[in-house]
Amino acid sequence: MLRALFSTMAKLNIKDVNLSGKRVLVRVDYNVPMEEVDGRMVINDTNATRIDTTLPTLDHLVSQGAKVILAAHLGRPKGKREPSMSLRPVAEKLAEKLVRPVAFVDDCLGEKVRQTAEALQPGDILLLENVRYHAEEEANDPEFAAKLAAPAEAYVNDAFGAAHRAHASTEGAAKAIAARGGICAGGLLMERELKFLGEELKQPERPFVVILGGAKVSDKIAVIDRLLEKADALLIGGAMAYTFKLAKGLGVGKSLIEPDKVDVARSAMAKAAARGIKLLLPSDNTVVTPVLTDKLDKKGNPIMEFQNPRHNTEPNIPDAEEGVDIGANTIAEYVTEISQAKTILWNGPMGIFEDERFAVGTFAIAKAVAEATENNGAKSIIGGGDSVKALNRSGLGDKVSFMSTGGGASLEFLEGKVLPGVAAINDK
Ligand code: 3PG
Repeated sequence: MLRALFSTMAKLNIKDVNLSGKRVLVRVDYNVPMEEVDGRMVINDTNATRIDTTLPTLDHLVSQGAKVILAAHLGRPKGKREPSMSLRPVAEKLAEKLVRPVAFVDDCLGEKVRQTAEALQPGDILLLENVRYHAEEEANDPEFAAKLAAPAEAYVNDAFGAAHRAHASTEGAAKAIAARGGICAGGLLMERELKFLGEELKQPERPFVVILGGAKVSDKIAVIDRLLEKADALLIGGAMAYTFKLAKGLGVGKSLIEPDKVDVARSAMAKAAARGIKLLLPSDNTVVTPVLTDKLDKKGNPIMEFQNPRHNTEPNIPDAEEGVDIGANTIAEYVTEISQAKTILWNGPMGIFEDERFAVGTFAIAKAVAEATENNGAKSIIGGGDSVKALNRSGLGDKVSFMSTGGGASLEFLEGKVLPGVAAINDK
């Protein structure tokens, strides 16, 4: 299902309705990273963005006197009760953030849920256990969806990050509630996501500079194609740049490439040239010598070590080496483009930024995007996933206009797909 680029049908929002006294099933995306500390799963504050970004919606509903029933998933337990994927730690974190109690039930449907939901008072919040403990969730089983929806009189979707999934909690439950005449509205986070990834990019102020990185061209084929209809410049980094280099006949050494996507890269370059869009590739790189060691990782696979990092000033990467970051000349070139931009969209890191030796390019881009926002009033939109992680790690998360909470969802939305979770919200 495709629609006009970046267009969004106006969707009903919680600001448009009165949910006072109503039991409201609120789908949120609390799929947050957790760590095991002394046998307990805990959520680090730097990993709590997806919880933090739902607080305005929850505050709004609580102050209206709604009775809030939160549904969410964590990880991919595939229909099994996987204890490390319980949402209980999220209930604790949420209570801490809201400074009010958050009840928790260790299932998402059944008698216990019914009783707890019925006992809710206006302003109370209940978080249900991981919906993916039931295989019917991902199967979007209508009977399961109806049971999930049973305690609620209205439905709110604030889970943009999961809106690309047609699952029971993102779509089926909304349909079940709508079928009995109940309201299905978007939350405040959903509204912001649709505004920045949709409305703001419909007619971007120019120059519109798009920065694309990450590992694979294959993940971004449709996005590249669509953005080539809109952008003034496309700056490519990350491992996907090596497939583009290969398409230009340059040496890529042992860099990560997708030989079967060379044609895609070639046609993107041809489309850019035909439309007069600047498509920039790294002219220099940080390169390493990858060495397979006899050390094993947790899964028993041999660990690859990146040895002898150096600055390769040539566009060609020597046979024995691998590109792991963009180089200083590329950074300077990309920063110049970014500093002139009025609208910036960034998705995907420039190198293996998890290793600080190869984070220079990604952090330099983060700084340039933050500066363009602050100094030139550029609108900067960060399309989720690793670029958000990188921006937070560089401490610049609050210096951009918007960071999406969606990974796959933001990509699919930018591709122009209709997201089932968005489609299930009532139109205005
Ligand atoms: C995400 O983390 O991108 C969303 O929560 C969706 O998770 P999923 O890819 O497991 O459906």
